[in-house]
Amino acid sequence: MGISAPTVPTTNRHLVRWVDKMAELCEPARIHWVDGTQAEYDYLCAELVKSGTFTRLNQELWPGCFYARSAPTDVARVEDRTFICSLSKDSAGPTNNWQDPFEMRRTLKRLFQGCMRGRTMYVLPFSMGPVGSPMSQIGVQLTDSAYVVVNMRIMARIGAAVFAEIDKDVKRVVPCMHTVGAPLAPGQKDVPWPCNDVKYVVHFPETREIWSYGSGYGGNALLGKKCFALRIASNIARDEGWMAEHMLILGVESPAHEKTYVAAAFPSACGKTNLAMMIPPKGFDGWKVWTVGDDIAWIKPGADGQLHAINPEAGFFGVAPGTSAKTNPNAMATLARNTIFTNVALTPEGGVWWEGMTDEPPAELIDWRGERWTPEIGAKTGKPAAHPNGRFTAPANQCPTIDPDWEKPEGVPISAIVFGGRRASTMPLVYQAFNWSSGVYVGATMGSETTAAAAGETGKVRRDPMAMLPFCGYHMGDYFRHWLRMQRNLAATPRIFHVNWFRKDEDGKFLWPGYAENMRVLKWIVDRVHGRALARETPIGWTPYFDDINWKGLKFSQAAFDKLQEVDRSAWRKEVMGHEELLLALHDHLPPEMIYERELLICRL
Ligand code: GTP
Ligand code: SPV
Ligand code: MN
Repeated sequence: MGISAPTVPTTNRHLVRWVDKMAELCEPARIHWVDGTQAEYDYLCAELVKSGTFTRLNQELWPGCFYARSAPTDVARVEDRTFICSLSKDSAGPTNNWQDPFEMRRTLKRLFQGCMRGRTMYVLPFSMGPVGSPMSQIGVQLTDSAYVVVNMRIMARIGAAVFAEIDKDVKRVVPCMHTVGAPLAPGQKDVPWPCNDVKYVVHFPETREIWSYGSGYGGNALLGKKCFALRIASNIARDEGWMAEHMLILGVESPAHEKTYVAAAFPSACGKTNLAMMIPPKGFDGWKVWTVGDDIAWIKPGADGQLHAINPEAGFFGVAPGTSAKTNPNAMATLARNTIFTNVALTPEGGVWWEGMTDEPPAELIDWRGERWTPEIGAKTGKPAAHPNGRFTAPANQCPTIDPDWEKPEGVPISAIVFGGRRASTMPLVYQAFNWSSGVYVGATMGSETTAAAAGETGKVRRDPMAMLPFCGYHMGDYFRHWLRMQRNLAATPRIFHVNWFRKDEDGKFLWPGYAENMRVLKWIVDRVHGRALARETPIGWTPYFDDINWKGLKFSQAAFDKLQEVDRSAWRKEVMGHEELLLALHDHLPPEMIYERELLICRL
C-alpha cells in the first residue's frame, strides 16, 4: 500500500463487527479504512490512472481533473433493477419493484459471496449534510471501487470527521454495501471499468440498508445520493415528519437585498443544475441567484413554523452535454478544476468536450466509447461524441454563486416550491397552484418526457410525481398523504408553482429561450410569494399577465407569450385522463384530497 491509513479508526464495535462480517462474505484481498484526506485522494487517483480507469487531463488546461470512460453497458441508473424490499409488498406500492426481503437477502448473499476477491474493500464513512448538523444523516459504504471512493469524496463529507461522529454513538448509521461484481482471479488483469451485466440496486426500508451489485456508475454506485438521500431518507423523513426531495435549492436576492429561497423538483436531466446556477440576464441589474443545491433537498419544519432545507450533498454530479459558457457559465467555472469527467469526449490536447460545449466541435476527438470521432463521423453515424448522460463530478464550494449559507446546519427557509417537467405541449410556461392541497395535486400528477439519465426509451411522457417516481422509497399514495400532512405542522406553507421550459411549436422548436431567461419566471414567482404581482385565474391555477413579467432585455411579444401560456381546455381534458392511470394504480392508498382536487379541476375545465 502506498498510503498508510490507521488500521481501525473507529471505536464503534458494531461498525467494526459489521465490517468483519462483510469482509468474510465478500473476501476482499485487503481492507482500506478511508480517512478522506487529500493525500489519500491523490494516491487513489494515481492508482486509477495506473489501472487505466482514469486519464489525467492536461493539467495546464484542466488542473486537478481526471477523465473516465465507463463500460458501454453501465451508463445510467437502472430503474428496472432497483428494488424496494419492504416487509410487505403493499408498503412499497405499485410504482416500485418489490421483492420479498428474505428471498432478496438470499439472492444478495449468493451474489456478494466472494465478490471482492482480488480487490480492495474500502470502508467509506460519509455524512449527508454538514458533519454534525441536526439535519444530517450518516452512512458507511463498503465498496470495491476506488472510482466510487474518489467521486464520493467530492459528493459527500467523508473520512475521519465522520468516524468521529459515529464514535459519539448518537446517530443511526445506514449500512451501504456496494460491489462492481467483478472478482479477480489470482494473476487476472483488471479492466478499466469493471462491472457486471447482472445488476441489483436494493433497499431495505425497515432496516435502513442499501445493497448495490454490478454497476459502478452514478446513482447506482454513489450510494449517498439517490439510494440514501432519497429512497432510504424518504422513509426516515415520513417517520420523523420531514421531507426528502429530488429538488434544487436556490436563493433569489433582489436589488434591495431581500433573499427568497426556492426549491424546485424537476425529473432527471430536466434542468435542476441549470436553474440552481442561473445568472440573471440583461434587464435584471442588481438581482442575484445563489446556489444551495442542485439535486436533493432535505426539508424540515423549523421552530419558526416555516420549512427549512439543507442540501445533503457536497458536490454536483451534473449532466455535461448542453453545459456551456453560454447556457451555464457557473457550472463551467465550477468544473474547471478538481473535477472528474465520466463518459464525455477527450480532445487531442488532453482536454474534454461534449455536445453543446462549443458551437463548433473540435476537428478530432476520442469519443466516450474510446473510438476516434470527427464531426464527419458523427454526422454519418449519428453517434454523439459524449454520452447524453455523460457527467462531471465537481465540488460545490467551487461554484462562484454558492450561497454563503449553503452549509448552515439549520438550513435555509423555503418560500416557494416549484414543480416542472419536460413537456412539448399542454403545459404553460408557469402557473401557481391555488393552495397547498391543489399544489400537492399538481406535483403528484406531474408528467415529463423520459431522458437519458435512466436506461430505457427516451422522449416518452410518463407520470413522475414530484420528480420522485424512481426515488420514493415507499408507497406513492402514502407519500402524497405525507405531503398533505406536512401543512398541519406549519405556520406558513410555501407557495406552489408549476413551470415548463420545454413547450414546443408545431415545428418542434422551443417556444421559450430558457436558461438565464428563466429568471423572468423566477422573479414573478418571488413577487407572488411576497404578494406583489397580480395573476389571472385559469382552470388550472394562477397565471401571470404579460405585464407582470419583466421583459427588459428580451424581445418577446404578447402573442408569443399567449401561445406559451395557453391553457387549451381540450388538451387539458386529455391531460386529466392521463392523471387517472396513476391515481387508479394508487387508489387504495390515495388520500381523499387527491380525488377532490381532481374533481374540482374537471369541473373548472
Ligand atoms: P439530474 O442531474 O439528472 O437530476 O438533471 P438536472 O435536472 O440537474 O438537469 P440539468 O440542469 O443538468 O439539465 C439537463 C438538460 O436540460 C441539459 O442538456 C440542459 O442543457 C437542458 N436544459 C436545462 N435548462 C433548460 C432550459 O431552460 N431550456 C432548455 N431548452 N433546456 C434546458
Ligand atoms: C439523476 O438521474 O437524477 C441524477 C444522476 O441526478 S444519478 O446520480 O445517476 O441518479
Ligand atoms: Mn437528479
